[in-house]
Amino acid sequence: MDIPEGGIGFFDSGLGGLTVLSACLDGLGLPVCYYGDNARAPYGGLPEEKILAYAEEAFDAFSALRVRAAVIACNTVTAVCADRLREKYPFPVVGAEPAVRVAARRGGRIFVLVTPATAQSGRFLSLCGRVGREFPAARISVCPCPELAGWVERSVRTGEKIPLPSLLPSGKPDAVVLGCTHYVFLREEIGALYGCPVFDGNEGIARELFRILSSRRACGRPLAATRPSRPPLLTTAADGKGLSEGEVDGFSRKAAEREELCFRFGEKTGKGEEEKEKNIRSRIFCEIGQKRGKKGDFSEIFFLGSGKTVNKSAYEQMFVGKKRGMGGETGSKIPKS
Ligand code: DGL
Repeated sequence: MDIPEGGIGFFDSGLGGLTVLSACLDGLGLPVCYYGDNARAPYGGLPEEKILAYAEEAFDAFSALRVRAAVIACNTVTAVCADRLREKYPFPVVGAEPAVRVAARRGGRIFVLVTPATAQSGRFLSLCGRVGREFPAARISVCPCPELAGWVERSVRTGEKIPLPSLLPSGKPDAVVLGCTHYVFLREEIGALYGCPVFDGNEGIARELFRILSSRRACGRPLAATRPSRPPLLTTAADGKGLSEGEVDGFSRKAAEREELCFRFGEKTGKGEEEKEKNIRSRIFCEIGQKRGKKGDFSEIFFLGSGKTVNKSAYEQMFVGKKRGMGGETGSKIPKS
């Protein structure tokens, strides 16, 4: 597989990490390897040692690709084994932690929705304990949702409607924290159901990734990794087709002239039909509106793992029409496959 070295690895049990990836792309300009282990998702009900073993498979792949850094785009894996992964692998590892602190500042009753494995982990419980002491006006309820991530995985593939009220805890919280990256697909629906603000940790992950990249010169070429200050303006690939090198450069130049932030994606099928059929190389070109028309402005995304096709198509659908599932005010809808 023709994947460049020196990129950023993103790992999740399946689709949830796509929402993290999306939050991290603006200004990244590095190849991305998204490893989604959909065949074995969800992880949330698995024993710790199994979760670690699966995570190590992904991280071994990242290691072989000599990634510059890896993002655990999964709260469960972070809660269960982030420390062990950090010890074992030579590259910096960014974890995903529920945005409990941000929500707790507001005080009131806070539901933290997590997988069972996260709910039982020492790392997560100690985070809740610390935040609870720091903000005594906040009443933090840890709410394991054993079925929810599995429903998201299935629903993306089948379009099946998720019976949300039966999968969520009942009550009247003042804020909800999405402590699983799969739940970010349901941000809007969850907010509507409880009628309160909803928080996720994706922007925090992106900030941490950029902080590490800008400080870690040792991992490769120096990076001027500064995030654009405004959100991306989305343009869709009208025909969904790939861009040739020339088109990429042309597009880049045009966007730079307009000084806009633009995204465009499409599968670049490479030279032969064979490669197209294999559907291995999904290239998504993301363009940021810096006043540069260089190829370095793009992040090429390579999907690895058991669900590369489903991850790719879910990712593309998240970017069709409007930006979905990435938090903020636009909310999300589960993309239909
Ligand atoms: N997306 C994951 C998380 O953030 C894992 C969900 C699962 O596989 O159970 O926790």
